[in-house]
Amino acid sequence: MLYVDGSWVEPGVAAVQPEDRGYNFGDGIYEVVRIYKGRMYQWDAHLTRLFRSAREIKMELPWSKEELTDIANQLMEKNGISSNDDANLYLQISRGTAPRVHDIPEGIRPVIMGFVRRKERPLAEMKKGLTAQLVPDIRWLRCDIKTLNLLGAVLVKQEAKDAGAQESILHRDGIITECSASNLFAVKDGALYTHPANHLILHGITRQIVIELAKKNGIAVHEEAFDIDFLKQADELFLTSTTAEVMPIVAVDGQAVGSGQVGPMVLKLQTLFEEHINSEVLV
Ligand code: PDD
Repeated sequence: MLYVDGSWVEPGVAAVQPEDRGYNFGDGIYEVVRIYKGRMYQWDAHLTRLFRSAREIKMELPWSKEELTDIANQLMEKNGISSNDDANLYLQISRGTAPRVHDIPEGIRPVIMGFVRRKERPLAEMKKGLTAQLVPDIRWLRCDIKTLNLLGAVLVKQEAKDAGAQESILHRDGIITECSASNLFAVKDGALYTHPANHLILHGITRQIVIELAKKNGIAVHEEAFDIDFLKQADELFLTSTTAEVMPIVAVDGQAVGSGQVGPMVLKLQTLFEEHINSEVLV
């Protein structure tokens, strides 16, 4: 069952208006939330980011955090998500429906849509690592907003796939930003390096958790921009996201990263992350 604009809808039933601005312009925002063992992980952080995204695109949300929590819980319940299930919850809010003009129509009412899909953790990939391709970051200049406009992300990911790699690592004029749908970290001499959380990257929730776990465990973290040369000299590389967790990258542009194997820092952070999700989900 999907939740669309206040109603419960079976998959395949038309429920979106042709002039929904999410559909016409990508004018809206979204969140992807991880569900571990039937419980939402980092829900408050996702809600906080959703409200921030709304503010940044001048959209006033007519729902309280409690109402959105209720919708998310109902989505899990109506789809039979139990304490045995790992799943992804997708929630999007479009600006709403109005005759097509570019500026923001007055009095427009946001339209919410959500669904849940069962999804196992990517344990095999986390063990093996991914291959990546460097691709110019062609996205806009407000990558900090989690908007429905994902064409840039679609094209960079496809460019990597067309080159035979599994993921894209994006750079603006040689400065590494992030990946198509995840944040990037480099490991050098026992320290972590990642792009600062400014307007050029999404402020990933997993990124923040990993930074906190690293610092708590005595690992230095530098939120500093770095370039392609630094990337190519890195001992290890990994990406982070809600769905990918701590995911090693073992090759870039066909060249091995470090030893070409999943390295000790990634293994350590994967263990810390696993302990962290277990402690959150079991409370
Ligand atoms: N992607 N950077 C970008 C561009 C992203 O789209 C995402 C998330 C992240 C990681 O953020 P977080 O750790 O909060 O998931 C970084 C989601 C999962 C997606 O679009 O599917």
